[in-house]
Amino acid sequence: MSQYKHMPTNNPHNPTNESKKCLTRILAAIDLSFLNKTDHKLFLSRVEQHFPSLFDLLLQVYDKHYDLHYHLQQLVETLASNFSQRKARLKKKDKQRLADPLWHKSEQMLGMACYVDLMAGDLAGLLEKIPYFKELGLTYLHLMPLYKSPEGDSDGGYAVSDYRCVNPTLGTTKDLQRLAEALSDEGISLVLDFVFNHTADDHAWAKAARAGDSEYQDYYLMFDDRRMPDQYDATLREIFPSVRRGSFSYLPDIDKWVWTTFNNFQWDLNYGNPAVFRAIVDEMLFLANLGCDSLRLDALAFIWKDLGTVCENRPKAHALIKAFNSCLQIVAPAVVFKSEAIVHPDEVVKYIAPNECQLSYNPLLMALLWNSLATQKTRLITQSLSHRFEINPHCSWVNYVRCHDDIGWTFDDGDAAHLGINGYNHRLFLNQFYTGRFEGSFALGLGFQENPENGDCRVCGSLASLAGLQQALERNSPELIALAIKRILLLNSVILSIGGVPLLYAGDELAMLNDYSFQADPHKVHDARWVNRPLITQEALNLAHQTGTPQYAVNVGLRKLIAARKKHPVFGNASTQILRTGNDHCFAYLRMAENGERLLAICNFSALEQSISADILHNLLPAREVTDLIEHNPFVIDFSKPIKLGAYQVIWLYLKV
Ligand code: GLC
Ligand code: GLC
Repeated sequence: MSQYKHMPTNNPHNPTNESKKCLTRILAAIDLSFLNKTDHKLFLSRVEQHFPSLFDLLLQVYDKHYDLHYHLQQLVETLASNFSQRKARLKKKDKQRLADPLWHKSEQMLGMACYVDLMAGDLAGLLEKIPYFKELGLTYLHLMPLYKSPEGDSDGGYAVSDYRCVNPTLGTTKDLQRLAEALSDEGISLVLDFVFNHTADDHAWAKAARAGDSEYQDYYLMFDDRRMPDQYDATLREIFPSVRRGSFSYLPDIDKWVWTTFNNFQWDLNYGNPAVFRAIVDEMLFLANLGCDSLRLDALAFIWKDLGTVCENRPKAHALIKAFNSCLQIVAPAVVFKSEAIVHPDEVVKYIAPNECQLSYNPLLMALLWNSLATQKTRLITQSLSHRFEINPHCSWVNYVRCHDDIGWTFDDGDAAHLGINGYNHRLFLNQFYTGRFEGSFALGLGFQENPENGDCRVCGSLASLAGLQQALERNSPELIALAIKRILLLNSVILSIGGVPLLYAGDELAMLNDYSFQADPHKVHDARWVNRPLITQEALNLAHQTGTPQYAVNVGLRKLIAARKKHPVFGNASTQILRTGNDHCFAYLRMAENGERLLAICNFSALEQSISADILHNLLPAREVTDLIEHNPFVIDFSKPIKLGAYQVIWLYLKV
């Protein structure tokens, strides 16, 4: 019997056969005459290529739906209509990117994230900032959510009222399209948010649900009483415990409970309903067709819920994200996904794959950089990254020192235990340290979402304030100021060289301090993350241009690092090996490019001078003469003498082929 099992042909239950049959039926039933001849041909070839996986993935998620065929047909129609809307210049980009899928690995890549209003007032103002972005070297710009959202608190735009409408205070959809083109002409990729775990409670679907339309109530996760919410709450992690306990909000007007992972006004979508998948694909492709190069998959870990679990990182969430990616491959293959999974490192990497998310935030590196600064030790970063940094070679990390959100301590307790560190206690220490409550700390951050039940807490603050500049300025201490500048440059040096797309948060390049003005705004006061989202003022820009200021030192230092990065392919598509230096205060890694170039980066995370034995460099940098890309000196390694690094010093030893 078993010999027949593997025979692929003519097996009616062979999934490839099934998908072929299904597609043939769908194509026979739908009208594609609105596509011109060339488009028709291209669309069919892309569908034929990607439908089998799409079919397979959706079957995994929706196997219990008797009407799946109907939904698949609707989906193909949605894909075709979005394909017909895709502009010629974007189709050209699709071709280019398909031919150069590793574009994000280039040493030219440099990213920034900013809020349109805080950076430039509105989209028209942002157009005028392009020369500034270019001069800084940006090739990637993430605009924080700029869609229509509720007035007052909208979670910084992460409550979307209408994906197809730009927030009127920022401009119009036309302005956004114009900006996308202008950025693209200047070689800057636009990144937009795809907020698909939830909508605002005033989205048209939510309004219909509230008006009693059961079709739209099924777009969300609504319950008539507390029975199911209680069962789910028993195993859920609370994301915003200071907003509300548990993950459900009561709607008195319709006497129902609705699932709200984040704020009460952000209703989680019900992906158990295939109509929701199709509807969101439609919104996603609309965004892709505006001309962005990447979509940031907001809160992607939360999209699938399984009773009795923590409802994060579920297998069906992965199937759905892959299915979204297949749709993108059919209509807008120039666009890549960026994963925003701020979860356990074992789970972060599961989203990273060419057919899932080609890019991913690297929250582990972020957390461990701050850990290294606080402890002045590098054992945990070395231990963790030595087995966690490598990812699929077709994908890239997005390395950042902080973003618009809080900093969570997402390292693995096992990695910590391996070094005799108790993860739970260590997180308490880090929270104390970065909120300035630890004796001797240089950091001035704010606590975020402290959970009274388990003591869990995260930290908010700008790069400069967390790295000690604010305290140093308050104390008017030149020595402390000098140390803070070094810490800021140290962290930036790592994200610029370790491998991946470096992503700055706007204002950090100007060493801007915490902005406490949110405390006077009733819509923001409860959300400490606003402390690290400063308004970019002319004054801040001037300070960074004024010789002698710490802001100037940071800005100039950063620009030097960026310039060095852009000059050498070894900062781009190259492998990374995390090294053990024999000194617990130093972190080091070796990068090797295919052309033979090598870069050895050594970072001293302590405020005291450190030395490491040059002996260990023997095999790494076989030549004695290398270049220090930071000091711009030829660097002669004397293998019999230790290499010395000053407080927080970084050296980049470069070996040409
Ligand atoms: C993401 C965003 C965060 C937001 C949350 C809910 O984590 O980065 O700012 O609060 O999703 O959309
Ligand atoms: C948690 C979530 C993350 C979210 C953040 C917002 O860390 O895991 O997805 O962005 O909270 O504060």
